Amino acid sequence: MRPLLTHRPLRRLLLVVATGLTVLSGVLALGTGVASAHAGLVATSPADGTSVTPSPDAVSATFSERVSIGVGGLTVRNTRGLRVDTGSSTLDPAGTTVRVALQPALPDGTYVATYRVLSADGHPVSASFLFGVGSGPIDQTAVTSGAANRVWEIAGAVARFLMYVSALLAAGIAFFVAFLHDQDEDRWRLIGWARIATITAVFGAAGIILVQAALLSGRGVASVTDGSVLADVLDSRLGWSLAVLVMGLIAVHLSTDVRNLTASQALALYGGLATAGSFAIWGHSTELTPIWLSTVADVVHATAAAVWFGGIIGLVVVLRRPTDQPVASTARIVQRFSGAAAITVAFLAAAGLVLSWNATGGSVDSLISTTYGRLLLVKVLITGAILAVAGYNRSRLVPALVDDDDPPEAGWRRLRRSVSIEAIALVLVLALTSVLVNVTPARTAVATRDRVVNQTQSVPTGTVNLVVVPARVGPNTLHIQYADAAGRPIDVANTLTIEFSLASADLAAISRQTSKAGPGHFIYTGPELSIAGTWTVTLVARTSDFSEQRSTFAVPIRN
Ligand code: HEM
Repeated sequence: MRPLLTHRPLRRLLLVVATGLTVLSGVLALGTGVASAHAGLVATSPADGTSVTPSPDAVSATFSERVSIGVGGLTVRNTRGLRVDTGSSTLDPAGTTVRVALQPALPDGTYVATYRVLSADGHPVSASFLFGVGSGPIDQTAVTSGAANRVWEIAGAVARFLMYVSALLAAGIAFFVAFLHDQDEDRWRLIGWARIATITAVFGAAGIILVQAALLSGRGVASVTDGSVLADVLDSRLGWSLAVLVMGLIAVHLSTDVRNLTASQALALYGGLATAGSFAIWGHSTELTPIWLSTVADVVHATAAAVWFGGIIGLVVVLRRPTDQPVASTARIVQRFSGAAAITVAFLAAAGLVLSWNATGGSVDSLISTTYGRLLLVKVLITGAILAVAGYNRSRLVPALVDDDDPPEAGWRRLRRSVSIEAIALVLVLALTSVLVNVTPARTAVATRDRVVNQTQSVPTGTVNLVVVPARVGPNTLHIQYADAAGRPIDVANTLTIEFSLASADLAAISRQTSKAGPGHFIYTGPELSIAGTWTVTLVARTSDFSEQRSTFAVPIRN
């Protein structure tokens, strides 16, 4: 029996993965916040970096989209690291504000509030903010979880990259062996690659679980041994996605074991589909409408990526065949792959464009003005360059080799070099993709920027700021903050009433009392903004027994 893998392919695999990891780290290091996730923090109570007197009853954080809490939520600690909240966090009816009650009468000092929530698309969102109790300065050196989160976010992108490269390689090479190869002896070298890739893909998947547990619990990777944390991580779309991935990888692995070609082809085909299709179960496609279109496009895109990427690596291996293999047979494999790749790339590009359209809303502004859009543009540019090289191979190098009964060694060498460049560039594309899937999709980023109402007006005491989240029909949270001319929170009133009215619907004003959250800071959550249109929201601050301060805002509410 032949050895499954010589050391040279293993070295090459490591080289290819190392190249991708280097690019990945570079992209992550260049773009600060690139690995940020998808529901953005809009407001906190107390506001970040402000001091309040007396000690507040609760702390809350409001996000741009609905979130879930799971094992996460809000925790509040003093500068000695001791918890000062009462334990369990709650989510408001809109699903956008997380709140935790505090122990009564906290002593003066600095406090660190840390939130850990899960975005609707499965990405954990976590960070910390500082607030003070009393009139003393805030200790800016108090430890927050920012740096630790960033490390985990980068680790998550690296695990995703390892999973993408390995899973696509395993599925693609198995397909190449089953459908495009001549079943000659050197298939064992390819099979060695496919088998190792199935194993590294499982490591990548395990890495994703560990990172997700660390980000959600804030207790490091060891938290995965806690049943409730593991259940929270796996009892989600991520759990289903990884289950389908592992089943696909098992089928792919089996396809390299069975002797019967038809059985091997069936296992490679369906195993590959499950492996690549598993990506669509977790991530942006599950949230970008129309969801059915995103999901179908994602499955087609990832499957085509597997056939192309795995095929290219397969071709590199075949082009380095031992010299005793018949040249005509190698030429036939090259020709078969060239034909299959042309169709595959057409599907990959078409599905990629559909995904891009859904993720950007087809707007040039979102392509240019968001991190997601710019990363996508770079991805398309690199893919374009790869396609130019592939087109040259297909139109010039391959016909010259196939049509010649005894092609010169220089021709094979040129093709080998050219295909190796394609392989390395595809690894770069996958490294970029691992970052892309961790960044807020352009459409969501622009919509959040445009959608969350955030207006400030001058008042006799300074300014008043109104934030309405999510500014859509249904339950909304309103944050109101009064500040002096220098921007410091100012206690203008103990009670604040909000009047909601919508002239176009002929609605009488609805009056609601807010809760005081800190000096000059009031919060209200309720279902009043129930019709699309421009609402008039009037804030009535009772500044004394005999006077009030009224501020009127025009608040657009969308469906
Ligand atoms: C025309 C060029 C391409 C375009 C426009 C494109 C576009 C996209 C878009 C918009 C996504 C969705 C990212 C998200 O979840 O937000 C995506 C995902 C992906 N792309 Fe591409 N792509 C292109 C080329 C490639 C190539 C050449 C490969 C690799 C061979 C590739 C592999 C992937 C993979 C593996 C995913 C992740 C699927 C998932 O996790 O759901 N793409 N692509």
